[in-house]
Parts: sequence; C-alpha cells; structure tokens
Amino acid sequence: MVEAERMRVSVIGTGYLGATTAACLSELGFEVLGLDVDEAKIDMLRSGRVPFFEPGLDELLTANLGTGRLSFTTSFAEAAEFADVHLICVGTPQRDESGAADLTYVQSAIERLAPHLTRPTVVVGRSTVPVGTAATLTARLHALAPVGEEAELGWSPEFLREGFGVEDTLRPNRIVIGTDSPRVEKAVRELWRQQVDDGVPFLVTDLQTAELVKVSANAFLATKISFINAMAEVSEAAGADVIQLAEALSYDDRIGGKFLGPGLGFGGGCLPKDIRAFMARATSSASSPRCPSCARWTRSTSAAARARSTSPGSSSAEASPDARSRCWAPRSSPTPTTSATLPRSTSPRPSPRWARE
Ligand SMILES: NC(=O)c1ccc[n+]([C@@H]2O[C@H](COP(=O)([O-])OP(=O)(O)OC[C@H]3O[C@@H](n4cnc5c(N)ncnc54)[C@H](O)[C@@H]3O)[C@@H](O)[C@H]2O)c1
Repeated sequence: MVEAERMRVSVIGTGYLGATTAACLSELGFEVLGLDVDEAKIDMLRSGRVPFFEPGLDELLTANLGTGRLSFTTSFAEAAEFADVHLICVGTPQRDESGAADLTYVQSAIERLAPHLTRPTVVVGRSTVPVGTAATLTARLHALAPVGEEAELGWSPEFLREGFGVEDTLRPNRIVIGTDSPRVEKAVRELWRQQVDDGVPFLVTDLQTAELVKVSANAFLATKISFINAMAEVSEAAGADVIQLAEALSYDDRIGGKFLGPGLGFGGGCLPKDIRAFMARATSSASSPRCPSCARWTRSTSAAARARSTSPGSSSAEASPDARSRCWAPRSSPTPTTSATLPRSTSPRPSPRWARE
C-alpha cells in the first residue's frame, strides 16, 4: 500500500451513507472515488446534484468535484485500480417477514470488487450488518481476491444521523474499527487522523464487537423512546405530566435527556429495520448449539424490542399496523396491545416528535 498520507479511497454504494462519506473524506483532503451500481445516481452525483436532502452536502459535493479530489464511477475494476482503501456503504434493508437483514448487496459488493484486487488492499465495511457477517465476508474476500489474504477486511460501523450527516461524519462522537489487522487499523486511523487528533475516541475491537456496537446502540435508543412513551401512558392514567417527568429524568446524567421525548415513537430508515434484524439474528443464534448464552440474549433483546414504540392514540411510526403488531407485540399475548385498547386521556398530549437514526 502507498504511504498513508497519499491514501486513495473508494466508497462503494453512494446512497445516503456513501455519498456523505465520499464528500466528507474528499473535504478532509483524500482522493475519493464513489462507486454505485445505479448509473442514474452516479450521473447525478457527477453533475453535482445530491439525490436526497442533506444540509450542507450539495456544497461539499460541488466544491470537491471542483478540486478534482472527488469523482464517481460504476466500474469495480476502476475502483480496485484506484484505491488503497475501499469503504463498503451499500444498503442492508429488511429482507422479508422474518425481519432479517438482506445481505445481498454487501455480498455482491465484495464479490464484484474482490476479483480485481491484485495488490495488498484494505476493505472496510460501514453498512449496518448482523453479527457474524464480516467473518463470512472475510472468507469470501480471501477466496475471490487474486491477492488472497492480503486483501484484508475490517468493519467500522457508522453512527451518523440523517439531517446531521455531514456534521456527524466530520465530527463523529466515536470511531469504532473491528479488526485484528494492524494494516486495517492503521488505514482507518489515517482516514480519521484529524478527528482522532481532536480527541474523538478511537476504539479497536474484534469484528463481532464492532458489528454489535451499531445494532446495540440502535436498540438502546429505541428502548429509550419506547420507555418514555410507556411512561406517557402511565402518566396519562395517573394524571401526571410526562413532559415534566422527562425533564426531571433528563437532569440525571446517567439517563440524559436525548431520545427521551414522548411522541410518535421511533421511525426513519434505520431504527425499525435494524432492531428487527437484531431480533432475527438473536433468534437464529439462539438455535445454535454452539452459543449457550444466546437464549438469554434472545430473551433480553426481545424484551427490549417488545416495548411499544408508539404513544397512546398516535399512529405508529412503523410501516403498517400489521407490521407493528407482528414485530412489537408481546409473544405471550394473543391479542397485541394497541392504541385502541389504551385508556384515553383528556390531558394535552405531548407534541409528536420523530426520532430518527
Ligand atoms: N442512512 C443513515 O442514516 C445510516 C446511518 C448509519 C448507517 N447506515 C447504514 O448504512 C448502509 C447504507 O445505508 P443508506 O441509507 O446509505 O442506503 P441507500 O439505500 O441510501 O444507499 C445504498 C446504495 O448502495 C448501492 N448499491 C447496492 N448494491 C451495490 C453494489 N453491489 N455495489 C455498489 N453499490 C451498490 C445502491 O444503488 C444505493 O445507492 C445501511 O446498512 C444502513 O443501515 C445508514
């Protein structure tokens, strides 16, 4: 690999995460090549148009296209030739009714990139994946790359929030890299050198821990939202004021006030799908005789996810009532508790707030 300061980066998958990452890394001074299988998206990005709304991203894209540090392609051969570090930022949507993550796109990204890797290379996954995915992809990468095990894979989950994508990428609150490879660690450290120098915590873990950090962060945030909505129900029944209750809780720094606003519940592109994927993964692990602690894991995960995400009387932030009752209803109860069965209150409701991740 070339010296770190001249490291060139490809970003594979230029949707929300990838386009933001590509523009921000070029802003940090790296030469970046964004790659997507969607030609229309690549054409838009090449012409300086962002296919979604994200404050500040248009300006970064235009400025860095202008410097020549940022370009786009649909060719995996070109990306392999260009870059020393490849960041995998493709989607991991919900696969089917099981809630499991669809890993087709991450698998395809590895399978299309690997045959072109003819020199030592670092590949870093940034997509949100179920624990165990990176180990499987590592084996596939080694098998398909002409350079074999000299193509090394790490996993560095991304925690950016939609609407704050540029800010969160340039000033993350932590960087996590799952790897046991000094070369992978060095490359990721170099990518975020400025942030690390500014004091951003940099955590090196194994692959599984890095994968789990992301899904457990999302599960915890969803639990917080569900908790305060449950307290809103209790408050309504008791004649208490949940807004004051939440404020009083928020001054306890063990609890904190963020994601403690009663309202519509959680939604957005990631929290619901990631929690369903977590539950699906936990269930599949629980059936594995190799993992004795997974039964406990499944029980605790399900308990967290069963907590309702909606406030009384409000519509769900989820796609459909069916989907909601399927995913969040207590399994022991044949009749899911829905807003229709909850006590109604005449007290003013908290204003609905979306919490997105
Ligand atoms: N959106 C967020 O706020 C956010 C935050 C943190 C993590 N994530 C995670 O990041 C990942 C990407 O999310 P997103 O919101 O950017 O998704 P997205 O759907 O906006 O973008 C995914 C992109 O990947 C492209 N793609 C699919 N297969 C490909 C392949 N084989 N090669 C190259 N490109 C391919 C698609 O054409 C698309 O442009 C997901 O795992 C998501 O959970 C998203």
